[in-house]
Amino acid sequence: MKVRIEPSGHEYETAPGETILEAALREGFHLPYSCRNGACGTCKGRIMAGTVTHGRYEGKALSETEKAAGLALFCRAVPSGPVVIEAREIGIAKDIIIKTLPCRVARMEKLAADVMRLFLKLPQNERLQYLAGQYIDILLKDGRRRSYSLANAPGQDELLEIHVRHVPGGLFSGHVFNAMQERALLRFEGPLGTFFLRDDSDKPVILMAAGTGFAPMKAIVEQALAGHGRRPLHLYWGARTRADLYLHDLACTWAATHEPIQYTPVLSRPPTGWTGRTGYVQEAVVADFPDLAGREVYASGPPKMITAAKQLLVDHGLPPEAFYYDAFEYAQDPTPL
Ligand SMILES: Cc1cc2nc3c(=O)[nH]c(=O)nc-3n(C[C@H](O)[C@H](O)[C@H](O)COP(=O)(O)OP(=O)(O)OC[C@H]3O[C@@H](n4cnc5c(N)ncnc54)[C@H](O)[C@@H]3O)c2cc1C
Ligand code: FES
Repeated sequence: MKVRIEPSGHEYETAPGETILEAALREGFHLPYSCRNGACGTCKGRIMAGTVTHGRYEGKALSETEKAAGLALFCRAVPSGPVVIEAREIGIAKDIIIKTLPCRVARMEKLAADVMRLFLKLPQNERLQYLAGQYIDILLKDGRRRSYSLANAPGQDELLEIHVRHVPGGLFSGHVFNAMQERALLRFEGPLGTFFLRDDSDKPVILMAAGTGFAPMKAIVEQALAGHGRRPLHLYWGARTRADLYLHDLACTWAATHEPIQYTPVLSRPPTGWTGRTGYVQEAVVADFPDLAGREVYASGPPKMITAAKQLLVDHGLPPEAFYYDAFEYAQDPTPL
């Protein structure tokens, strides 16, 4: 079916059963997306003409009212005939090629009781071109896949770095903590997602992470430190305890040695003697910036934090289109375990 993107006027065809997003990515048109699961709402856009059918999605990503008003989740919407959609294409991603590659786990490093850092080595002569903030999907058996943000900046990509939090009962994170050994072989697809700094703005940026949401922020900050971009970056990192700020010293060093970088750690269960900020990370942000009108916020971490932040930040003047996020949604497996 023919899809036309407005306002660019770009056109492409979807194969039978293919979603608007899948076909767009195949054809090199980069629409905003994150989970590709119908859970996060990043790919939401307007159907200006024509009709679509939706595969499985979550009500928090697209409400009935939004659907009735002509909005759709492009990662789940399959055109029933020719359609015209409204979407903002992201030019900066146009040269990024999504690859499927094998890799070897070169090193495993426990950063906290429940966070493992994996360094992944690509085959010789292979390099992954990506934008700081993007993620990869580790490909498991039976079509299962798990997403992990790349935690190092592009260009330092001889080894790719990911941070895996141990989820109780989790298939892949359980394997990482209980069975995986260095030199293990994995396969992944990537780079994926559109969680990277947009290059068409010079507004000061607030980076808001919770838990392993720190991983893509690390890539973004390290890319800034390597001399790419001059926008001031204020990183807020929310966690439960001090031990959960698993690279706190590194973040302190960034802020101490580079003026455009600021770092504010926020603990929801602070230890006695903690003199830093307490509570939830999004509350610390709005306490410091009661008017967010002139800023952009990039947030990553548990879906609960993203949902809580979305409305709160808009209530404090953040234009909805200035809120970029990667919600670490659970995967929807093709078949039950
Ligand atoms: C764009 C993106 C980036 C991500 N980046 C990272 C990252 O950098 N680091 C990181 O640690 N994680 C990241 N994640 C999350 C990660 O992909 C996995 O979801 C997570 O590691 C759990 O996988 P698992 O196989 O261990 O657990 P699973 O086998 O998927 O299940 C986890 C447990 O949670 C339960 N569960 C399943 N679905 C739900 C649900 N909807 N709500 C509540 N409980 C549920 C299951 O019953 C099970 O017990 C990211 C996710 C996305 C979408
Ligand atoms: S809901 Fe479509 S990308 Fe997350």
